[in-house]
Amino acid sequence: MFKGVLFDLDGVITDTAEYHYLAWKKLADDLGISIDRQFNEKLKGVSREDSLRLILAHGNRENDFSQAAFTELAKTKNDHYVEMIQSVSPKDVYPGILELLKSLKHAGIKISLASASKNGPFLLEQMQLTAYFDGIADPAAVQAGKPAPDIFNLAAQVIGLKPEECIGIEDAQAGIRAIKASGALPIGVGKAEQLGTDIPLVESTSELTIAFLEKQWAN
Ligand code: G6P
Ligand code: MG
Repeated sequence: MFKGVLFDLDGVITDTAEYHYLAWKKLADDLGISIDRQFNEKLKGVSREDSLRLILAHGNRENDFSQAAFTELAKTKNDHYVEMIQSVSPKDVYPGILELLKSLKHAGIKISLASASKNGPFLLEQMQLTAYFDGIADPAAVQAGKPAPDIFNLAAQVIGLKPEECIGIEDAQAGIRAIKASGALPIGVGKAEQLGTDIPLVESTSELTIAFLEKQWAN
């Protein structure tokens, strides 16, 4: 039996992946760079700075900004994003997630956050979910962002487990690669077109019951 579950946040616990996209789109539009939802699949799960690098490269603007201007652009995106998430509340938690957290707690399975977002702890507070988490991996403390395994390794470590003893849940291509590299068992939230056909997928978080997780672990 698995001993821990490592949760991504944006796009797994709530719909903030959409806010990240809208905030990046606003910044990109202002720079005259066109991004769409298909391009956004590459940004999901990727750190703020790496996302900005990908967007600038997409618009052939990667050499146009000094380090200070780059930092300012990253801050502007985060300002847009932070404004959007102020109204996030417990009613924004995706279907089935609260029930899953409760049943994991009841079963004595440890719960950890493996989000690349520095806004993760704020969002858990807004959704009143902080108390369910036995650990939160600090994205500022890891060397390499997703698709590197570091954040999942740390998320397991902060709850006293090895990644191999855990299930990781992700909605992003980069995140699933990170889970695979860590040695945890990946479960994807989304469609096979984006996430591949080689791992268990759910289209809705309401399918993420403890029974479903146990079944994937046993397979
Ligand atoms: C998550 C999201 C990404 C975001 C990253 C950093 O991984 O999926 O879209 O870029 O966190 O988030 P932050 O809130 O720190 O900019
Ligand atoms: Mg995500």
